[in-house]
Amino acid sequence: MTSYPLHPVGLKAQALNFRALPPLSLYIHIPWCVRKCPYCDFNSHEARNGLLEQEYVAALTRDLEQALPQIWGRKVYTVFIGGGTPSLLSARAVEELLAAVRMLLPLDVNAEITLEANPGTVEAERFAGYRRAGVNRLSLGIQSKALGRIHDAAEARRAAGIARQHFDNINLDLMYGLPQQTLEEAEQDMRAALEFVPQHVSCYQLTLEPNTPFHRHPPALPGEDASGEMGRQLEEFLVNCGYRHYETSAFAQPGKQSRHNLNYWQFGDYLGIGAGAHSKLSFPDRVVRQARHKQPQAYLDAVARGSPVQEEREVGCRDLAFEFMMNALRLNGGFDETLFAERTSLPLLMLRRELEEAGRRGLLLRDLNRIAPTGLGQRFLNDLLQIFLPPEH
Ligand SMILES: C[S@@+](CC[C@H](N)C(=O)[O-])C[C@H]1O[C@@H](n2cnc3c(N)ncnc32)[C@H](O)[C@@H]1O
Ligand code: SF4
Repeated sequence: MTSYPLHPVGLKAQALNFRALPPLSLYIHIPWCVRKCPYCDFNSHEARNGLLEQEYVAALTRDLEQALPQIWGRKVYTVFIGGGTPSLLSARAVEELLAAVRMLLPLDVNAEITLEANPGTVEAERFAGYRRAGVNRLSLGIQSKALGRIHDAAEARRAAGIARQHFDNINLDLMYGLPQQTLEEAEQDMRAALEFVPQHVSCYQLTLEPNTPFHRHPPALPGEDASGEMGRQLEEFLVNCGYRHYETSAFAQPGKQSRHNLNYWQFGDYLGIGAGAHSKLSFPDRVVRQARHKQPQAYLDAVARGSPVQEEREVGCRDLAFEFMMNALRLNGGFDETLFAERTSLPLLMLRRELEEAGRRGLLLRDLNRIAPTGLGQRFLNDLLQIFLPPEH
Protein backbone atom coordinates (compact mmCIF):
# COMPACT_ATOMS: atom_id res chain seq x y z
CA MET A 1 0.00 0.00 0.00
CA THR A 2 1.18 3.54 -0.70
CA SER A 3 2.23 5.41 2.42
CA TYR A 4 1.99 9.15 2.88
CA PRO A 5 3.79 11.46 5.29
CA LEU A 6 1.58 12.11 8.27
CA HIS A 7 1.71 15.14 10.53
CA PRO A 8 -0.18 15.80 13.73
CA VAL A 9 -3.64 17.28 13.28
CA GLY A 10 -3.51 21.02 13.46
CA LEU A 11 -2.68 22.09 9.93
CA LYS A 12 -6.12 23.37 9.06
CA ALA A 13 -7.04 22.76 5.45
CA GLN A 14 -9.53 24.73 3.36
CA ALA A 15 -13.01 23.24 3.81
CA LEU A 16 -14.15 20.79 1.15
CA ASN A 17 -17.71 20.25 0.10
CA PHE A 18 -18.63 16.70 -0.90
CA ARG A 19 -22.05 16.02 -2.40
CA ALA A 20 -21.59 12.29 -1.91
CA LEU A 21 -18.82 10.39 -0.16
CA PRO A 22 -16.60 7.96 -2.13
CA PRO A 23 -17.11 4.18 -1.98
CA LEU A 24 -15.65 2.61 1.16
CA SER A 25 -13.33 -0.41 1.54
CA LEU A 26 -12.01 -2.14 4.65
CA TYR A 27 -8.36 -3.19 5.00
CA ILE A 28 -7.31 -5.52 7.83
CA HIS A 29 -3.58 -5.90 8.53
CA ILE A 30 -2.05 -9.09 9.97
CA PRO A 31 1.50 -8.12 11.01
CA TRP A 32 3.30 -11.46 11.34
CA CYS A 33 5.38 -13.74 9.10
CA VAL A 34 7.23 -16.98 9.86
CA ARG A 35 10.42 -15.30 8.73
CA LYS A 36 11.17 -11.85 7.38
CA CYS A 37 12.17 -11.89 3.69
CA PRO A 38 15.39 -9.92 3.08
CA TYR A 39 13.83 -7.52 0.53
CA CYS A 40 10.59 -6.72 2.35
CA ASP A 41 9.90 -3.45 4.17
CA PHE A 42 6.22 -4.05 4.87
CA ASN A 43 5.02 -3.93 8.46
CA SER A 44 5.65 -7.60 9.18
CA HIS A 45 7.36 -9.11 12.21
CA GLU A 46 8.72 -12.60 12.82
CA ALA A 47 6.24 -14.58 14.89
CA ARG A 48 8.93 -16.05 17.13
CA ASN A 49 6.65 -16.94 20.01
CA GLY A 50 3.70 -17.91 17.86
CA LEU A 51 0.71 -15.74 17.02
CA LEU A 52 -1.43 -13.93 19.51
CA GLU A 53 -4.34 -15.05 17.36
CA GLN A 54 -7.22 -14.79 19.84
CA GLU A 55 -5.96 -11.57 21.32
CA TYR A 56 -5.36 -10.02 17.91
CA VAL A 57 -8.78 -10.89 16.47
CA ALA A 58 -10.38 -9.47 19.63
CA ALA A 59 -8.29 -6.29 19.22
CA LEU A 60 -9.29 -5.95 15.54
CA THR A 61 -12.94 -6.24 16.54
CA ARG A 62 -12.51 -3.57 19.22
CA ASP A 63 -10.58 -1.38 16.81
CA LEU A 64 -13.42 -1.63 14.29
CA GLU A 65 -16.05 -0.90 16.95
CA GLN A 66 -14.16 2.22 18.01
CA ALA A 67 -13.81 3.38 14.38
CA LEU A 68 -17.52 3.00 13.58
CA PRO A 69 -18.56 6.61 14.33
CA GLN A 70 -16.24 7.71 11.51
CA ILE A 71 -18.09 5.62 8.94
CA TRP A 72 -21.63 5.45 10.30
CA GLY A 73 -24.13 4.07 7.83
CA ARG A 74 -21.64 3.65 4.99
CA LYS A 75 -21.70 0.40 3.06
CA VAL A 76 -18.46 -1.52 2.60
CA TYR A 77 -17.83 -2.94 -0.88
CA THR A 78 -14.54 -4.77 -0.46
CA VAL A 79 -12.52 -6.29 2.38
CA PHE A 80 -8.82 -7.10 2.09
CA ILE A 81 -7.04 -9.14 4.77
CA GLY A 82 -3.39 -8.40 4.02
CA GLY A 83 0.00 -8.65 5.63
CA GLY A 84 2.37 -9.88 6.70
CA THR A 85 1.02 -13.39 6.33
CA PRO A 86 -2.72 -13.56 7.00
CA SER A 87 -2.68 -17.29 6.19
CA LEU A 88 -0.93 -17.83 9.53
CA LEU A 89 -4.40 -17.32 11.00
CA SER A 90 -6.52 -20.44 11.46
CA ALA A 91 -9.70 -20.69 9.39
CA ARG A 92 -11.59 -20.36 12.65
CA ALA A 93 -9.94 -17.03 13.45
CA VAL A 94 -10.78 -15.73 9.96
CA GLU A 95 -14.36 -16.88 10.43
CA GLU A 96 -14.60 -15.02 13.76
CA LEU A 97 -13.07 -11.93 12.21
CA LEU A 98 -15.45 -11.88 9.24
CA ALA A 99 -18.43 -12.60 11.50
CA ALA A 100 -17.48 -9.50 13.53
CA VAL A 101 -17.10 -7.43 10.33
CA ARG A 102 -20.54 -8.55 9.12
CA MET A 103 -22.12 -7.82 12.47
CA LEU A 104 -20.64 -4.34 12.77
CA LEU A 105 -20.75 -3.08 9.18
CA PRO A 106 -23.25 -3.04 6.34
CA LEU A 107 -21.25 -5.29 4.01
CA ASP A 108 -22.47 -5.32 0.41
CA VAL A 109 -23.96 -8.71 -0.56
CA ASN A 110 -21.51 -8.94 -3.47
CA ALA A 111 -18.52 -7.74 -1.46
CA GLU A 112 -15.12 -8.89 -2.69
CA ILE A 113 -13.33 -10.45 0.30
CA THR A 114 -9.63 -11.14 -0.36
CA LEU A 115 -7.09 -12.87 1.85
CA GLU A 116 -3.33 -12.86 1.18
CA ALA A 117 -1.77 -16.28 1.62
CA ASN A 118 1.70 -17.77 1.54
CA PRO A 119 2.14 -21.18 -0.06
CA GLY A 120 3.20 -23.23 2.99
CA THR A 121 1.71 -26.69 3.44
CA VAL A 122 -0.10 -25.80 6.65
CA GLU A 123 -1.52 -22.69 5.05
CA ALA A 124 -2.78 -24.54 1.95
CA GLU A 125 -4.72 -26.92 4.20
CA ARG A 126 -6.62 -23.90 5.50
CA PHE A 127 -7.81 -22.65 2.11
CA ALA A 128 -11.08 -24.62 2.17
CA GLY A 129 -11.83 -23.22 5.63
CA TYR A 130 -11.16 -19.65 4.46
CA ARG A 131 -13.63 -20.15 1.63
CA ARG A 132 -16.26 -21.43 4.09
CA ALA A 133 -15.58 -18.41 6.31
CA GLY A 134 -16.62 -16.15 3.41
CA VAL A 135 -13.32 -15.27 1.75
CA ASN A 136 -14.07 -15.25 -2.01
CA ARG A 137 -10.69 -14.21 -3.46
CA LEU A 138 -7.30 -15.64 -2.56
CA SER A 139 -4.04 -13.85 -3.32
CA LEU A 140 -1.02 -16.11 -3.28
CA GLY A 141 2.60 -14.90 -3.15
CA ILE A 142 4.72 -17.38 -5.07
CA GLN A 143 8.16 -15.75 -5.41
CA SER A 144 11.09 -18.12 -5.56
CA LYS A 145 13.02 -19.42 -2.61
CA ALA A 146 16.19 -18.04 -4.17
CA LEU A 147 15.03 -14.72 -2.74
CA GLY A 148 15.36 -15.94 0.80
CA ARG A 149 11.74 -17.01 1.07
CA ILE A 150 10.84 -20.15 2.95
CA HIS A 151 8.75 -21.93 0.31
CA ASP A 152 9.99 -23.69 -2.81
CA ALA A 153 8.51 -24.06 -6.29
CA ALA A 154 6.89 -27.43 -5.53
CA GLU A 155 5.05 -25.96 -2.54
CA ALA A 156 3.98 -22.96 -4.61
CA ARG A 157 2.55 -25.27 -7.31
CA ARG A 158 0.74 -27.39 -4.76
CA ALA A 159 -0.72 -24.33 -3.02
CA ALA A 160 -1.82 -22.76 -6.33
CA GLY A 161 -3.55 -26.05 -7.25
CA ILE A 162 -5.40 -26.17 -3.92
CA ALA A 163 -6.31 -22.47 -4.18
CA ARG A 164 -7.82 -23.12 -7.61
CA GLN A 165 -9.92 -26.02 -6.25
CA HIS A 166 -11.61 -23.85 -3.65
CA PHE A 167 -11.69 -20.40 -5.23
CA ASP A 168 -12.91 -19.20 -8.60
CA ASN A 169 -11.08 -15.90 -8.16
CA ILE A 170 -7.37 -16.06 -7.39
CA ASN A 171 -4.43 -13.71 -7.76
CA LEU A 172 -0.84 -14.86 -8.10
CA ASP A 173 1.85 -12.41 -6.92
CA LEU A 174 5.12 -12.71 -8.82
CA MET A 175 8.32 -10.66 -8.84
CA TYR A 176 10.88 -10.18 -11.60
CA GLY A 177 14.24 -8.47 -11.91
CA LEU A 178 15.56 -10.93 -9.31
CA PRO A 179 19.22 -11.58 -8.49
CA GLN A 180 20.88 -13.34 -11.45
CA GLN A 181 17.52 -13.88 -13.16
CA THR A 182 17.58 -14.16 -16.95
CA LEU A 183 14.76 -13.21 -19.29
CA GLU A 184 14.14 -16.90 -20.03
CA GLU A 185 13.85 -17.71 -16.33
CA ALA A 186 11.40 -14.85 -15.74
CA GLU A 187 9.24 -16.11 -18.62
CA GLN A 188 9.49 -19.66 -17.33
CA ASP A 189 8.22 -18.55 -13.89
CA MET A 190 5.32 -16.72 -15.49
CA ARG A 191 4.49 -19.67 -17.76
CA ALA A 192 4.40 -21.96 -14.70
CA ALA A 193 2.10 -19.51 -12.89
CA LEU A 194 -0.29 -19.21 -15.84
CA GLU A 195 -0.75 -22.99 -15.95
CA PHE A 196 -3.10 -22.44 -13.02
CA VAL A 197 -5.13 -19.96 -15.08
CA PRO A 198 -5.37 -17.34 -12.32
CA GLN A 199 -7.97 -14.63 -12.84
CA HIS A 200 -5.42 -12.01 -11.79
CA VAL A 201 -1.63 -11.66 -11.81
CA SER A 202 0.40 -9.03 -9.95
CA CYS A 203 3.84 -8.67 -11.42
CA TYR A 204 6.25 -6.55 -9.37
CA GLN A 205 9.77 -5.51 -10.23
CA LEU A 206 11.96 -6.23 -7.20
CA THR A 207 12.99 -2.95 -5.58
CA LEU A 208 15.73 -2.48 -3.00
CA GLU A 209 13.88 -0.83 -0.14
CA PRO A 210 15.75 1.18 2.49
CA ASN A 211 16.13 -0.57 5.87
CA THR A 212 16.15 -4.08 4.41
CA PRO A 213 19.07 -6.56 4.31
CA PHE A 214 18.98 -6.38 0.48
CA HIS A 215 19.54 -2.62 0.68
CA ARG A 216 22.47 -2.98 3.07
CA HIS A 217 24.06 -5.84 1.06
CA PRO A 218 22.65 -5.48 -2.45
CA PRO A 219 22.58 -8.68 -4.50
CA ALA A 220 23.61 -8.47 -8.17
CA LEU A 221 20.37 -7.51 -9.92
CA PRO A 222 19.80 -7.37 -13.67
CA GLY A 223 20.55 -3.82 -14.90
CA GLU A 224 17.86 -1.17 -15.39
CA ASP A 225 17.63 -1.94 -19.15
CA ALA A 226 17.49 -5.71 -18.66
CA SER A 227 14.76 -5.39 -15.99
CA GLY A 228 12.81 -2.98 -18.18
CA GLU A 229 13.01 -5.45 -21.06
CA MET A 230 11.88 -8.26 -18.76
CA GLY A 231 8.87 -6.19 -17.71
CA ARG A 232 7.95 -5.53 -21.36
CA GLN A 233 8.33 -9.20 -22.36
CA LEU A 234 6.25 -10.38 -19.41
CA GLU A 235 3.60 -7.82 -20.29
CA GLU A 236 3.48 -9.05 -23.88
CA PHE A 237 3.28 -12.65 -22.72
CA LEU A 238 0.42 -11.91 -20.30
CA VAL A 239 -1.49 -9.86 -22.86
CA ASN A 240 -1.12 -12.68 -25.42
CA CYS A 241 -2.59 -15.02 -22.82
CA GLY A 242 -5.72 -12.85 -22.53
CA TYR A 243 -4.84 -10.68 -19.53
CA ARG A 244 -5.41 -6.93 -19.58
CA HIS A 245 -2.65 -4.75 -18.21
CA TYR A 246 -4.84 -2.34 -16.27
CA GLU A 247 -2.42 -0.90 -13.69
CA THR A 248 1.37 -0.51 -13.47
CA SER A 249 1.84 -3.98 -11.89
CA ALA A 250 -1.60 -5.57 -12.29
CA PHE A 251 -3.04 -7.84 -14.99
CA ALA A 252 -6.51 -9.36 -15.04
CA GLN A 253 -8.85 -11.42 -17.12
CA PRO A 254 -11.75 -9.24 -18.37
CA GLY A 255 -13.94 -8.21 -15.43
CA LYS A 256 -11.57 -9.70 -12.85
CA GLN A 257 -9.64 -6.62 -11.75
CA SER A 258 -9.01 -6.38 -8.03
CA ARG A 259 -12.01 -4.32 -6.91
CA HIS A 260 -10.30 -3.49 -3.63
CA ASN A 261 -7.17 -2.11 -5.28
CA LEU A 262 -9.24 -0.35 -7.96
CA ASN A 263 -10.94 1.54 -5.16
CA TYR A 264 -7.52 2.78 -3.95
CA TRP A 265 -6.49 3.78 -7.46
CA GLN A 266 -9.80 5.50 -8.11
CA PHE A 267 -9.21 7.41 -4.89
CA GLY A 268 -12.01 5.77 -2.93
CA ASP A 269 -12.07 5.70 0.88
CA TYR A 270 -10.69 2.96 3.09
CA LEU A 271 -10.68 2.22 6.75
CA GLY A 272 -7.54 0.29 7.71
CA ILE A 273 -7.59 -1.61 11.00
CA GLY A 274 -4.76 -3.60 12.57
CA ALA A 275 -1.13 -2.80 13.38
CA GLY A 276 0.28 -0.05 11.15
CA ALA A 277 -2.80 0.09 8.90
CA HIS A 278 -3.45 3.32 7.02
CA SER A 279 -6.86 4.89 6.41
CA LYS A 280 -8.19 7.57 4.09
CA LEU A 281 -11.61 8.78 5.11
CA SER A 282 -13.75 11.53 3.60
CA PHE A 283 -16.27 13.58 5.55
CA PRO A 284 -18.62 16.17 4.03
CA ASP A 285 -16.08 18.98 4.62
CA ARG A 286 -12.66 17.28 4.84
CA VAL A 287 -10.46 14.29 4.02
CA VAL A 288 -8.41 12.67 6.77
CA ARG A 289 -5.49 10.23 6.70
CA GLN A 290 -4.66 8.06 9.69
CA ALA A 291 -2.01 5.52 10.66
CA ARG A 292 -2.33 3.03 13.51
CA HIS A 293 0.50 1.97 15.85
CA LYS A 294 2.93 -0.22 13.90
CA GLN A 295 4.41 -2.62 16.44
CA PRO A 296 1.97 -5.45 17.19
CA GLN A 297 2.32 -5.11 20.97
CA ALA A 298 2.10 -1.30 20.88
CA TYR A 299 -1.04 -1.68 18.75
CA LEU A 300 -2.62 -4.18 21.16
CA ASP A 301 -1.86 -1.85 24.09
CA ALA A 302 -3.24 1.16 22.21
CA VAL A 303 -6.48 -0.66 21.34
CA ALA A 304 -6.83 -1.62 25.02
CA ARG A 305 -6.46 2.11 25.89
CA GLY A 306 -9.10 2.92 23.27
CA SER A 307 -6.76 4.86 20.93
CA PRO A 308 -5.26 2.71 18.14
CA VAL A 309 -4.65 5.71 15.84
CA GLN A 310 -1.10 7.03 16.25
CA GLU A 311 -1.07 9.77 13.63
CA GLU A 312 -3.77 11.71 11.88
CA ARG A 313 -3.82 14.64 9.49
CA GLU A 314 -6.28 16.51 7.39
CA VAL A 315 -5.29 16.56 3.71
CA GLY A 316 -4.98 20.03 2.16
CA CYS A 317 -6.45 20.85 -1.27
CA ARG A 318 -3.16 20.78 -3.23
CA ASP A 319 -2.10 17.49 -1.62
CA LEU A 320 -5.52 16.03 -2.28
CA ALA A 321 -5.29 16.88 -5.98
CA PHE A 322 -1.77 15.39 -6.18
CA GLU A 323 -2.73 12.25 -4.28
CA PHE A 324 -5.67 11.74 -6.63
CA MET A 325 -3.34 11.94 -9.64
CA MET A 326 -0.72 9.74 -7.99
CA ASN A 327 -3.31 6.97 -7.72
CA ALA A 328 -5.50 7.44 -10.78
CA LEU A 329 -2.61 7.79 -13.25
CA ARG A 330 -1.40 4.31 -12.31
CA LEU A 331 -4.44 3.06 -14.22
CA ASN A 332 -3.51 2.46 -17.85
CA GLY A 333 -7.07 3.31 -18.91
CA GLY A 334 -6.90 6.53 -16.87
CA PHE A 335 -10.06 8.04 -15.40
CA ASP A 336 -13.20 9.87 -16.36
CA GLU A 337 -12.79 13.63 -15.88
CA THR A 338 -15.79 13.79 -13.55
CA LEU A 339 -14.11 11.39 -11.11
CA PHE A 340 -11.68 14.11 -9.98
CA ALA A 341 -14.45 16.33 -8.60
CA GLU A 342 -16.37 13.34 -7.22
CA ARG A 343 -13.40 12.15 -5.17
CA THR A 344 -11.88 15.47 -4.12
CA SER A 345 -14.81 17.93 -4.33
CA LEU A 346 -12.35 20.22 -6.14
CA PRO A 347 -12.54 21.57 -9.73
CA LEU A 348 -10.25 19.85 -12.24
CA LEU A 349 -9.53 23.33 -13.56
CA MET A 350 -7.09 23.83 -10.68
CA LEU A 351 -4.71 21.45 -12.53
CA ARG A 352 -5.04 23.09 -15.94
CA ARG A 353 -1.40 24.16 -16.15
CA GLU A 354 -0.10 20.73 -15.05
CA LEU A 355 -2.44 18.84 -17.41
CA GLU A 356 -1.31 21.00 -20.31
CA GLU A 357 2.36 20.43 -19.52
CA ALA A 358 1.89 16.66 -19.22
CA GLY A 359 0.07 16.67 -22.58
CA ARG A 360 2.77 18.79 -24.22
CA ARG A 361 5.47 16.36 -23.05
CA GLY A 362 3.55 13.41 -24.52
CA LEU A 363 2.94 11.79 -21.12
CA LEU A 364 -0.81 12.29 -20.91
CA LEU A 365 -3.71 11.97 -23.31
CA ARG A 366 -7.09 13.73 -23.06
CA ASP A 367 -9.70 12.11 -25.22
CA LEU A 368 -13.37 13.07 -24.90
CA ASN A 369 -13.92 12.86 -21.16
CA ARG A 370 -11.03 10.57 -20.33
CA ILE A 371 -7.60 11.44 -19.01
CA ALA A 372 -5.02 8.66 -19.31
CA PRO A 373 -1.25 8.21 -19.31
CA THR A 374 0.19 7.58 -22.78
CA GLY A 375 2.51 4.60 -23.32
CA LEU A 376 5.37 6.98 -22.55
CA GLY A 377 3.58 8.23 -19.42
CA GLN A 378 3.13 4.63 -18.22
CA ARG A 379 6.82 3.93 -18.72
CA PHE A 380 7.94 7.14 -17.08
CA LEU A 381 5.19 7.38 -14.49
CA ASN A 382 7.43 9.16 -11.99
CA ASP A 383 8.14 11.96 -14.49
CA LEU A 384 4.42 12.28 -15.12
CA LEU A 385 3.56 12.43 -11.39
CA GLN A 386 6.35 14.91 -10.74
CA ILE A 387 4.43 17.46 -12.82
CA PHE A 388 1.54 17.34 -10.34
CA LEU A 389 3.72 17.53 -7.22
CA PRO A 390 2.73 20.60 -5.14
CA PRO A 391 5.57 23.20 -5.05
CA GLU A 392 6.34 22.84 -1.32
CA HIS A 393 7.23 19.08 -1.62
C1 LIG B 1 4.06 -7.66 1.32
S1 LIG B 1 3.62 -9.16 0.58
C2 LIG B 1 2.29 -9.70 1.59
C3 LIG B 1 1.74 -11.05 1.18
C4 LIG B 1 2.60 -12.26 1.43
N1 LIG B 1 3.28 -12.25 2.66
C5 LIG B 1 3.61 -12.47 0.32
O1 LIG B 1 4.78 -12.40 0.56
O2 LIG B 1 3.15 -12.71 -0.79
C6 LIG B 1 2.83 -8.68 -0.93
C7 LIG B 1 3.73 -8.68 -2.14
O3 LIG B 1 4.70 -7.65 -2.02
C8 LIG B 1 5.88 -8.14 -2.61
N2 LIG B 1 7.05 -7.37 -2.18
C9 LIG B 1 7.52 -7.23 -0.94
N3 LIG B 1 8.68 -6.52 -0.95
C10 LIG B 1 8.94 -6.20 -2.25
C11 LIG B 1 9.99 -5.49 -2.92
N4 LIG B 1 11.02 -4.98 -2.25
N5 LIG B 1 9.93 -5.35 -4.27
C12 LIG B 1 8.88 -5.88 -4.96
N6 LIG B 1 7.88 -6.56 -4.39
C13 LIG B 1 7.90 -6.73 -3.05
C14 LIG B 1 5.90 -9.57 -2.12
O4 LIG B 1 6.80 -10.37 -2.80
C15 LIG B 1 4.47 -9.96 -2.35
O5 LIG B 1 4.27 -10.40 -3.66
S1 SF4 C 1 6.27 -13.27 3.54
FE1 SF4 C 1 5.48 -11.43 2.45
S2 SF4 C 1 5.07 -9.90 4.06
FE2 SF4 C 1 6.29 -11.55 5.00
S3 SF4 C 1 8.36 -10.77 4.90
FE3 SF4 C 1 8.05 -12.03 3.05
S4 SF4 C 1 7.31 -10.61 1.46
FE4 SF4 C 1 7.15 -9.55 3.44
